[in-house]
Amino acid sequence: MARWAFRAENLLEAAALRLNLVPVVLAESFFPFIHARALMAATKLGVFEALGKDWRTPEEVAEETGTDPVAIRQLMTALTGSGYLRSKRGRFKLTPVARWALKRHRQSVRDKILLHYLEWDFVGKLEEYLQTGESLAFHDHMSSDEWKAYQRGMRATVAPFAEETTSRLKLPKGARSMLDIGGSHGFFSVCFCRRNPGLRSTILELPSAIEHAKPLLDAEAMGDRITYRAGNALTDDLGEGEHDLVLIASVIHHFSDEQIRELLPRIRRALRPGGQLAIFEQLRAEPGKGLSQMGAILDLYFGLTSRSGTRSEEEIRAFLSDAGFRLRPTMRMRTIRDLAVLSGTA
Ligand SMILES: C[S@@+](CC[C@H](N)C(=O)[O-])C[C@H]1O[C@@H](n2cnc3c(N)ncnc32)[C@H](O)[C@@H]1O
Repeated sequence: MARWAFRAENLLEAAALRLNLVPVVLAESFFPFIHARALMAATKLGVFEALGKDWRTPEEVAEETGTDPVAIRQLMTALTGSGYLRSKRGRFKLTPVARWALKRHRQSVRDKILLHYLEWDFVGKLEEYLQTGESLAFHDHMSSDEWKAYQRGMRATVAPFAEETTSRLKLPKGARSMLDIGGSHGFFSVCFCRRNPGLRSTILELPSAIEHAKPLLDAEAMGDRITYRAGNALTDDLGEGEHDLVLIASVIHHFSDEQIRELLPRIRRALRPGGQLAIFEQLRAEPGKGLSQMGAILDLYFGLTSRSGTRSEEEIRAFLSDAGFRLRPTMRMRTIRDLAVLSGTA
């Protein structure tokens, strides 16, 4: 997986970094949070949107966004230094990497960047977690507005992966029924149903999620082919022999090993013979086989938020085979190799 790091801009700096003559620990614990917050502010205050149109001066952007022209010039200069804007004769324009933050981008991640405000507060509690081991268990404590930001944020990240997953994962012939556990906005179900004309899906979700997730699903105009069931996958009856596909996407990183071991056999019973369980997850590297920066950072983050974490491919495959599934080949996403679908047949 791609990495982010403090990088040299010339040979002299590269040599100094290699010789450990630069306090990288200082740089990496200072600049990234200002940088992150600048990107969040440019999104929240409409600076990216205002710049999405053409070459603009800071004064024009400040006028359009109701902000201070001096401060906005500083923000735009900072974003230029990071490659999100270009500048020419006092005017600024977005570069292609910034366009993902625009509302009108086909795969806009704007709502996920707005969710970072809530996640920023979560990360502010890291030391408490490290001292006490008490996670935030945020699913139990969010306000309605936070649930809304969460569901919209999830929808903003999945489109490319839902499309790739559904184009590559072949369902049993004549598949009719899917259960989408923790399916939120339902976009995985939408993509599966569009590709498999006879398929209907039920999204099993926590009640507080559904209020804000349903409008996102409604926008896809799938009618009654995709419906919600309010409940809790850890405690509810999942039925017997009903489904051709059970999907659980970005959910098990909120569950403990014990909860996963208890859940997977119930999912296997809920499948028809030959039906499939697909687990979409962010992977950690195998123990002893080097580290993935993203998988390891997310492990800490999910520990903080849910007292759980990321797992390696081998660990998830072991959960599947211990629960009696016949393993299928792991499918790594083409653009981000630490994202994968692990699947098994009942
Ligand atoms: C990180 S989001 C993933 C949403 C969606 N599957 C996706 O890939 O974008 C996790 C979802 O799991 C839901 N969830 C968490 N615990 C759950 C449980 N015990 N039963 C059902 N859903 C749960 C949350 O409400 C949330 O919508």
